[in-house]
Amino acid sequence: MTRDDMKKMAAEAALEYVEAGTVVGVGTGSTANHFIDALARIKHKIDGAVASSEATAQRLQSHGIPVLDLNAVDELPLYVDGADESNKYLHLIKGGGGALTREKIVAAVSRTFVCIADDSKLVDVLGAFPLPIEVIPMARSYVARQLLQRGGRPVLREGFVTDNGNQILDVHNLEILDPVQLESELNQIVGIVTNGLFARRPADVLLLGTEQGVRKLT
Ligand code: 5RP
Repeated sequence: MTRDDMKKMAAEAALEYVEAGTVVGVGTGSTANHFIDALARIKHKIDGAVASSEATAQRLQSHGIPVLDLNAVDELPLYVDGADESNKYLHLIKGGGGALTREKIVAAVSRTFVCIADDSKLVDVLGAFPLPIEVIPMARSYVARQLLQRGGRPVLREGFVTDNGNQILDVHNLEILDPVQLESELNQIVGIVTNGLFARRPADVLLLGTEQGVRKLT
């Protein structure tokens, strides 16, 4: 079984969280793409979706799923998205696809956040995957110096511009022992739009595709 098969397995399992007559928040990336393809099979049951990126909006629309502005939605019972890493507390690193800001907004609004991934994403300590940080372009060097002072090694994601017109620093060398504290600390650095730690608002459910089937962590 390939990693992609495991991602697809987790994405299919997330369908059971979709409630009829509601709007579904949808994440970004290859695992979220599998979820979108699965959601298309039951599209007549839902009112539409809120997208966490332009790419996701396009894929939803290509399946004929209405894409709604988050501001037009009163409540979002469910958000389904992938992750780059998760610990057992369902604190996540996200943003490998660069969509972290809109992902964090949709996650904040949603009542239940179901994270879908293959089992290689579950780790003991977050940080082997470089932490993505979206920055306002004029603040890039200042933010990079602040990150160096905290022991990180920021690397500019070359040639990449986010859906919000900003840049991404991928921060290597971090061993993140207290994700909630680091997320809060990074939120204080002027010029950072969003950091890729999803710990203050973690996932509620993690569905992992494994060789043995889908493993559920809560
Ligand atoms: C995008 C993300 C993705 O959820 C994360 O990068 C995982 O991607 P994939 O499902 O392709 O492994 O945070 O910004």
